[in-house]
Amino acid sequence: MRILFLGDVMGRAGREAVASRLAGLRSAWRLDLVVVNAENTTGGAGLSPDHAKVLLAAGADVLTLGDHAFDQKEMASFIDTEPRILRPLNYAKGAPGRGAGVFDAGRGRKVLVAQVLGRVFMKQPFDDPFSAIDAVLRSHPPGGMVQASLVDVHAEATSEKMGLGHFCDGRASVVVGTHTHVPTADTMILPGGTAYQSDAGMCGDYNSVIGMDKVEPLRRFITGMARDRFTPADGPATLCGLMAETDDRTGLTTAVHPVREGGRLAAAGPGPIP
Ligand SMILES: [Fe+2]
Ligand SMILES: [Fe+2]
Repeated sequence: MRILFLGDVMGRAGREAVASRLAGLRSAWRLDLVVVNAENTTGGAGLSPDHAKVLLAAGADVLTLGDHAFDQKEMASFIDTEPRILRPLNYAKGAPGRGAGVFDAGRGRKVLVAQVLGRVFMKQPFDDPFSAIDAVLRSHPPGGMVQASLVDVHAEATSEKMGLGHFCDGRASVVVGTHTHVPTADTMILPGGTAYQSDAGMCGDYNSVIGMDKVEPLRRFITGMARDRFTPADGPATLCGLMAETDDRTGLTTAVHPVREGGRLAAAGPGPIP
């Protein structure tokens, strides 16, 4: 099947790009499942219920979150009413919502989607992501009750993300990083058959500092002082992520393509789908 993953949707620019362009990609690439990281969709911090509905209506099947999962306070209650939204598996034990789910990809096929948070350079002390994802993958082996599986590794350090990629190799169809808002050029299939990219990049305006209007971040770097709030940059957005083609029988990946569509970044994609 064909699975599209899009990285962190950043503010209005990212949201409107997904809303206006995802349906076109969905039909052009004949996608079976679309997973979108939505942790920065609302003003760059969290996801409101209204904006979750916008992304789901635009063609996302599953929304993942991250360290900003509950920045929008309504998400704490809304997440238990909307099974298509996932927060990290290893978030604090008392947090609402869930970190993994099995979703319908059409023609009777099921896909496991899960998210873990890294710990290296992260502000909060989260639980061990390795043991958290291990338990979920053990109970959903490829080619068993699910035909594919995707793990969103929401982390700062490429080392920790690569470690998790190899840890899941041969046990998940796709392991893709999020959180840094910059796409990496290491899109590949690992030796065991798992598609991997250290970071998907954001869906947002790259004329920015990781999605934020560049004036205040530059001021803080140059003077060491904050004056204003950070606000998302609102120029044309690039949709960023990857598209994986997986084998329903083995649950592993046969081809993977980086995706960069529109906005300022050099374009990438799978090309015409026969
Ligand atoms: Fe993010
Ligand atoms: Fe994040």
